[in-house]
Amino acid sequence: MLKLGAGNAVQPFHVMDVMRAANARAAALSPADPKILRMEVGQPGTGLPEGAKRAVADALQSGNVLGYTDALGRASLRARIAAHYQDWYGVFIDPARIAVTFGASGAFPLAYLSAFTTGDRIALAAPYYPPYINIAIALGLQPVVLPCGPETGFQPTVAMLQALDPQPDGLVIASPANPTGSMLSPEDLAALTEYCHSAGIRLISDEIYHGLTFGKPAATAAKFSPSAIVINSFSKYLSMTGWRVGWMLLPEDMVRVTERLAQNFFVSPSYISQVAAEAAFDCHEELQANRAGYARARELLLTGLPAAGFPDFAPPDGAFYVYLDSTGHAPDSTTFCHRLLNEAGIAATPGHDFDAQGGSNYFRFSYCAALPDIEDAIERLQRMHVKTAF
Ligand SMILES: Cc1ncc(COP(=O)(O)O)c(C=O)c1O
Repeated sequence: MLKLGAGNAVQPFHVMDVMRAANARAAALSPADPKILRMEVGQPGTGLPEGAKRAVADALQSGNVLGYTDALGRASLRARIAAHYQDWYGVFIDPARIAVTFGASGAFPLAYLSAFTTGDRIALAAPYYPPYINIAIALGLQPVVLPCGPETGFQPTVAMLQALDPQPDGLVIASPANPTGSMLSPEDLAALTEYCHSAGIRLISDEIYHGLTFGKPAATAAKFSPSAIVINSFSKYLSMTGWRVGWMLLPEDMVRVTERLAQNFFVSPSYISQVAAEAAFDCHEELQANRAGYARARELLLTGLPAAGFPDFAPPDGAFYVYLDSTGHAPDSTTFCHRLLNEAGIAATPGHDFDAQGGSNYFRFSYCAALPDIEDAIERLQRMHVKTAF
């Protein structure tokens, strides 16, 4: 038998497996059956903003050959991203430091390979977004997991980093985070960012859920450190999941190495997705209406979940997730998620995807589905709760 490569050590991204199971179950339903409520995956159901649709239609009509672009993206999109930092955060970013990528997912291998070498130690909080670890392992890096609970809002602290011996080579943070929705305050972000800069730890700040915050301000790491890598995407607030486009802000010394990698790995990001992305930034009204929908869904869950027997969850400051404790409902959250799908027709993601050590009694609900589905999910949960009288 021929050998398999280093990728064989990588765990599945379990949520994708849950999604496949939910798809299969939905396909097997008869028209009279209640629908499967899709709360497992973080995919906005809102679709491409209207202004972006028009820009795509114009580009297709224009007769221009939509070919490769510069490996780091179209100049006009990079300038538009820089303007976004001025508008939202009052921070000047040189467009030359911006790389357009295949979603935030495409940015991670570029960031890891630009910043680290085989065997480097990358710290991150648990619970975490699974690909942070899985991509690191595929590239021969060593994840250093920092267990984080309610005491620190499920986020890492400077003290946790200081306690590591040896110090890590990198730190990955996310605020708002997936799966918890929890956020770092601007002060805590500044402290972490400055500590990393002074200790020679390369910080990667995943800011993909900026724009989807509910009360707390989201600060960018770019404001506090010239050495941080910032990763963001058009998939969430800008509602362009399937268009696979994101971006990175790179420290000056990493621009050329990242460009060389991007040229070789991808040649260029998709032309038409970049056209759509540039226009999406200007679709304020529609995007704010989407955000208001998430805020309403969040409120419904914050009141509905305790009544369904789930009083404990991480502070859902942003994104569109709640990370819930399933203790008392089933021996573990994987069993509970099976029950949820089979008895209530609700797809949810068990916590072991987000925290291999500590996640077995947690599960994640994504609340970017349509509001009637969220209402229905709460009713089904409450019925299940009454029926089983835990
Ligand atoms: C925290 C986080 N980072 C990165 C990604 C990847 O997003 P994309 O590749 O669609 O930009 C996701 C997707 O859910 C996410 O939740």
